[in-house]
Amino acid sequence: SSFVHQLADEHLSEEELLADPVEKIAAVGGTRHPSIPLPVDLFGEWRNSGGIDLSVREVLVQTAQGIAAAPATAGTDAADPGAAEAVDRAAAAFRDWADTPIDDRAAILERLADLLEENRIPLMALAVKEAFKTIPDALGEVREAADFCRYYAARARADLWPVALPGPTGERNELHMEGRGVWATIAPWNFPLAIFLGQTAAALVAGNAVVAKPAPQTPEIARAAVALAHRAGVPQDALVLCPGGPEAGAALVADPRVAGVAFTGSTATARRIARTLLEDERRPLVPLIAETGGINAMIVDSTALPEQVVADVITSAFRSAGQRCSALRLLLLQDDIAEGVIAMLKGAMDLLVLGDPGDPATDIGPVIDRAAYDRLMDYRAAMEPQWIKSLPAPAGGLFVPPTLIRLADMDALNQEWFGPILHVATWKAGTLGETIARMNAKGYGLTMGLHSRIARSGELAEARARVGNLYINRSMIGAVVGSQPFGGEGHSGTGPKAGGPHYLQRFCAERAVSVDT
Ligand code: NAD
Ligand code: ALA
Repeated sequence: SSFVHQLADEHLSEEELLADPVEKIAAVGGTRHPSIPLPVDLFGEWRNSGGIDLSVREVLVQTAQGIAAAPATAGTDAADPGAAEAVDRAAAAFRDWADTPIDDRAAILERLADLLEENRIPLMALAVKEAFKTIPDALGEVREAADFCRYYAARARADLWPVALPGPTGERNELHMEGRGVWATIAPWNFPLAIFLGQTAAALVAGNAVVAKPAPQTPEIARAAVALAHRAGVPQDALVLCPGGPEAGAALVADPRVAGVAFTGSTATARRIARTLLEDERRPLVPLIAETGGINAMIVDSTALPEQVVADVITSAFRSAGQRCSALRLLLLQDDIAEGVIAMLKGAMDLLVLGDPGDPATDIGPVIDRAAYDRLMDYRAAMEPQWIKSLPAPAGGLFVPPTLIRLADMDALNQEWFGPILHVATWKAGTLGETIARMNAKGYGLTMGLHSRIARSGELAEARARVGNLYINRSMIGAVVGSQPFGGEGHSGTGPKAGGPHYLQRFCAERAVSVDT
């Protein structure tokens, strides 16, 4: 039976998942699935009238059928615009969209959330097929995307109205929040629906036109999301899809008409974008929101509950094949409990099921592509003398075996390894503050975990950890929109946090108007 599903998934219980075994979908094989054309027909075919009451069994059956039914064709649509044409179109659409009342823009986002939920089966099928998401992760994508839309709609209604400000008698002062123009939103493959649409929905509801560039690995789920946004009421040219790889992204960012960039991806790409935005001295200074990578640690002391620690480590390090920016990379165990926890962790790793991501029993699917696979496998091989545990992997696919690596010193890890590879090091009782400071010194600041039943240790972590998301006595992934605003600092990002109350404002131009009455 499957450990991650049992312990970590709040949506699909193991019992429900296995109640009615679903026939395995096509094997993943050593190459990518071919991409799928715009699933307009699938939307018609698969739209389910039952909405959110669809049972888990039906979700599984229909997702598997959706994956199997999705026809294979070549990737990018011939009609897709290049960056300049996409910006032309969005620039022409900006004024009308910006003048659309806030309530109307918010209502369109809410309609989009409904459409996402109604169409979750083909969307999940695309997430499995393009990004190799497991079924629970694919469902999480749709839910999070819908959550972003509803949350940003609510925040727009609450926060984007003109605000009256104080002043002397005879003077009227107001602060207005307005769209800035055309935003470029650039997304990674690992949340090809939730992050792609989250950034885009925020920019739109704030009154901007958007050119949205998905990751080259996941163009079709983005195409589906944009089609649904148009169906929900976003004018065709207020949201223009611009598929392509780094060149398309670079061309988009270099276009001087782009008035802001919302980027999620690697730290190295964020730096490239920042340089481009500043290169041309005639270009206005425009905001860059960058959400990037991390070296994320979980610190465990001797008062922690080992069973809970192990469950949270398995979830944080290995779920989604470790391909989350939030994922645990470095487990820091207090030295006197280290060997006991490691022994339990090795046992728990044995229960992980690697396999076809469309199979409901699978905990861990393949990694995204051959380049990622080669990078991770080369690193694993170089670290082999320090392996504590490595699982066998199914033959023939891009499966990176979950691997536990011992480090003599926590300072040895200084790079994000974006896959199911967990490093373990130890620390000594009485050095919690120093251990946190050493993590801070790495310069990243995305997530950190602490497992301790000492209240003072929790307080110390709260005071000292320089991370965007601190998780105490729980797992470190799966931030909930509106409850756990997500995003880091330092090399991990610029803020403001996605799914938080200060996000939309950053997409706006603020205009103070003072009138002598
Ligand atoms: P990436 O930086 O390679 O690519 C991200 C996007 O940027 C893609 O759409 C890509 O085509 C585009 N791009 C690449 N070069 C560009 C350029 N010069 N100009 C403009 N656009 C360019 O990242 P990835 O491999 O797709 O994603 C994995 C990374 O994303 C990891 O480092 C992970 O930690 C990070 N990530 C961060 C968060 C977060 O919220 N902090 C969330 C998910 C992923
Ligand atoms: N928001 C995603 C998570 O928390 C990255 O796992």
